[in-house]
Amino acid sequence: MTIAQLTWDYSDPRTGTSMPAPFFFDKGVFDEEKAKIFMNCWHVVGHVSEFAKPGDFVVQEIFEQSVVVMAGRDGEINAFHNVCRHRGNRLIEDRRGNKVGVIRCMYHSWCYNQDGSLRAAPRTENLDDFDKKEWGLRHVRLEIFASFVFITLDQNAAPVAEIAKGADVEMRRFLPDLDNLELSSESDVVVDANWKVIQENSIEGYHFDLSGPVHKDLAALINFEGYTLTPYGDWWTYIGPPNKGATQAYGVPLDGSTWQTDWFFNIGIFPNTTFYSFPYTDMVGTFIMIPLTPEKSLLRFGYYTPKGRETPPVTKAAIEWMNTQLGPEDIELNVTNQKGLHSLGFGSGKYLIDPARPHQSENLVHHFHTLCYKAIRE
Ligand code: FES
Ligand SMILES: [Fe+2]
Repeated sequence: MTIAQLTWDYSDPRTGTSMPAPFFFDKGVFDEEKAKIFMNCWHVVGHVSEFAKPGDFVVQEIFEQSVVVMAGRDGEINAFHNVCRHRGNRLIEDRRGNKVGVIRCMYHSWCYNQDGSLRAAPRTENLDDFDKKEWGLRHVRLEIFASFVFITLDQNAAPVAEIAKGADVEMRRFLPDLDNLELSSESDVVVDANWKVIQENSIEGYHFDLSGPVHKDLAALINFEGYTLTPYGDWWTYIGPPNKGATQAYGVPLDGSTWQTDWFFNIGIFPNTTFYSFPYTDMVGTFIMIPLTPEKSLLRFGYYTPKGRETPPVTKAAIEWMNTQLGPEDIELNVTNQKGLHSLGFGSGKYLIDPARPHQSENLVHHFHTLCYKAIRE
């Protein structure tokens, strides 16, 4: 059987089996996901505060595509393809920075304004029918949602506010300083696992108090019985109320701390964007699973804190703890999971969906798998 013939019956998550293993390593599936999910979806680039000054930019890669998001002189944020219109040279190699004045191509020095329009192209003045207005950088669609900047390569994609309708209301409930954040740090980690293996791990409450010791530390900050995992079409939440008895978190006393929320708050937007906050932390995290190959992904952790406010020791400790403890503990599971999926002894598994234990349910895993399957097969 070829992968194109391999189907999956997702209709009954409680009695059926989970998405078959080849969907997590097959090259044909990966190519379909690229074409039908990632070339059409919205990609989060950063917070609006990263584009405060003219020339501030962030470069976002989507497979071999590279897009520059930049603030113009008028404060407007634009997105355009990161390629010179002359002979196709890549323009900017940095992930983020500021371009004062112009974007200059290193090859023949065509210069573009911060809004992408062509300002100067040496020695073109005698060319017949060369109109600079026609040779600006090609624009990419950009929208701002919940104070974060999103781009898509699909001219026909539904607006992000429609796809994630209601998600911003939930975010503002838990993240009161959403409009007033600044980037504190960003870290990228390459993981030997399919992007869906990483997503699955983050959207279920089953492994929480059963896997490694760091997970148990997190579970202790939450009133775990009240953990809820809720699908809303193309977005979902997984939220845990606080353990009000906590006196310390991430190894630091809570005394005198401020926080966005004392809850464990997470919101995912299909396919690969997550916003979250850890209990008792004054931060908004982004967690993006960027597919590189069928079995390799780039995990991008962004940490945003309220602008102009001292970051409390608990929040600093939480960021360090995520980067050095919780993240690695999950990544180890991602890697061992990816290896196991190839086994002749597996094939397809079983979702734990038990109405008596909703807080430990794998209902969101089934929901996410279904969205992925429908996107490539229906
Ligand atoms: S390729 Fe950019 S100026 Fe020639
Ligand atoms: Fe985990």
